[in-house]
Amino acid sequence: MSQTPWDLGQPYSDLIARLERDPGLGAGSPGRALVPGCGSGHDAGALADHGWVVTGLDFAPSAEPLFDAKVKGRGEFVLADLFAYRPQEPFDLVFDHTCFCAISPARRMEFGSAAAGWVKPAGRLVSVVFPMGKPIEHGGPPYAMTTDDLAVALGSNFELVTDDEADCSGRRWETRWAVFDRLDSPTGAVEPL
Ligand SMILES: C[S@@+](CC[C@H](N)C(=O)[O-])C[C@H]1O[C@@H](n2cnc3c(N)ncnc32)[C@H](O)[C@@H]1O
Repeated sequence: MSQTPWDLGQPYSDLIARLERDPGLGAGSPGRALVPGCGSGHDAGALADHGWVVTGLDFAPSAEPLFDAKVKGRGEFVLADLFAYRPQEPFDLVFDHTCFCAISPARRMEFGSAAAGWVKPAGRLVSVVFPMGKPIEHGGPPYAMTTDDLAVALGSNFELVTDDEADCSGRRWETRWAVFDRLDSPTGAVEPL
């Protein structure tokens, strides 16, 4: 059985479709992007192909050569635990694809606090919300996830601006494409870890 059953073997289809329509994914021109839990780097490579300078973050050392082969110098790999990762300079875009659903639900608020430090004010966080509708008792990873779950974790530092249906072909559970804008002046303080 595959050690990485989540790996699509290619970039996520909706990411490709949206990048082809708008390389900036609604955030203006492509800038600096972070892919937390980047795994094999398929999505990171697609972002780099469309002009983004990509940082891939993963705590699995095996991810690094796979990321490097796809990003080809148009970014860097960071070997780190995402809960402890604090970039020197925050990013224009964070792309979450089966990272939030891979972490323990008990740590989701920590993810939200960390994400507030990853995205610069007026930047955005895009999430492929998956697996929707999976019964909680099935456990995980992937753990059941909704757009609301992510909105709660991100808190008042972010505003949900898009919550679209998204391609779930090849997967068992429904998927959505959610976009959160990082607010310039969050109404709440960023919680320390
Ligand atoms: C389900 S996989 C998704 C990989 C990739 N985004 C994709 O869609 O193919 C989750 C990834 O997150 C990484 N990961 C999980 N928890 C992490 C953590 N605390 N810090 C860094 N990476 C983590 C795993 O090593 C794995 O590569």
